[in-house]
Amino acid sequence: MIPISNVVFGIRIFYNKAGAKMRILQCGTKQDAAETVALMLVERMQSHPASVIGLATGLTMVPLYETWARLDRERSIDHGRGFFFFLDEYLGVSPDHPLSFRQYALNHFIKPLGLREDQFVLPNEHQDYDQLIREAGGIDLQLLGIGKNGHIGFNEPGSFKESRTRKVRLSEETRITNKIPFEEAVSMGISTILEAKEIVLLATGDSKADAIKYVLNHHDDPNCPATYLKSHPSLTLVLDAEAASKINLKI
Ligand code: GLP
Repeated sequence: MIPISNVVFGIRIFYNKAGAKMRILQCGTKQDAAETVALMLVERMQSHPASVIGLATGLTMVPLYETWARLDRERSIDHGRGFFFFLDEYLGVSPDHPLSFRQYALNHFIKPLGLREDQFVLPNEHQDYDQLIREAGGIDLQLLGIGKNGHIGFNEPGSFKESRTRKVRLSEETRITNKIPFEEAVSMGISTILEAKEIVLLATGDSKADAIKYVLNHHDDPNCPATYLKSHPSLTLVLDAEAASKINLKI
């Protein structure tokens, strides 16, 4: 059971065709939403220190990782037995490139929490990432953001539900939004993501409102890969008021 922080002011539960629950937690500010998810992750690490967690990058996650580090200082959490799989990485980027997700992972998560280098991994084209995940026992909780075009990880519109971790071409929209010179990336696939035991998607800001509305109104739509998540048996969307502004939660 996911703990719910006191900053959540609305909870809505939807059922998919298979009867699985999708929860939406609506918070006020983006800070509230990020803290809510940080608390879920921290409580998970406290109750299950050997958890395998899938992590995301992006601006949305910055206040989440800051909160995680603050909670770690306050509670002295044992992270030494955890393992962390990042969702994606640009292709051909050097590991010390400032725009690489490896640098993001080190600066926002690994170093602030004092984790070891052998506790995390990012995908590259020379390894079988899905096999690594299987060998780790599978992902217990996968954290996701969402692109304005509905991408998850770097599964851009047109991605198949059956996709595994692979090389992907980035859409022009994503390259412009992320302000990056890279054209390709390696990303966990949709199937890889759906195999996680629990999925939590964090979306904040009005630039995500259309994508969130689309997700709620569509199912298994390749034009918006995040719609594939709705068949997962344990999916939680955590939104701030802006990301939730185009959906009618009636709460
Ligand atoms: C990226 C990442 C995604 C992320 C998304 C949104 O490029 N590959 O994992 O969720 O875009 O990023 P942001 O949080 O900066 O809006």
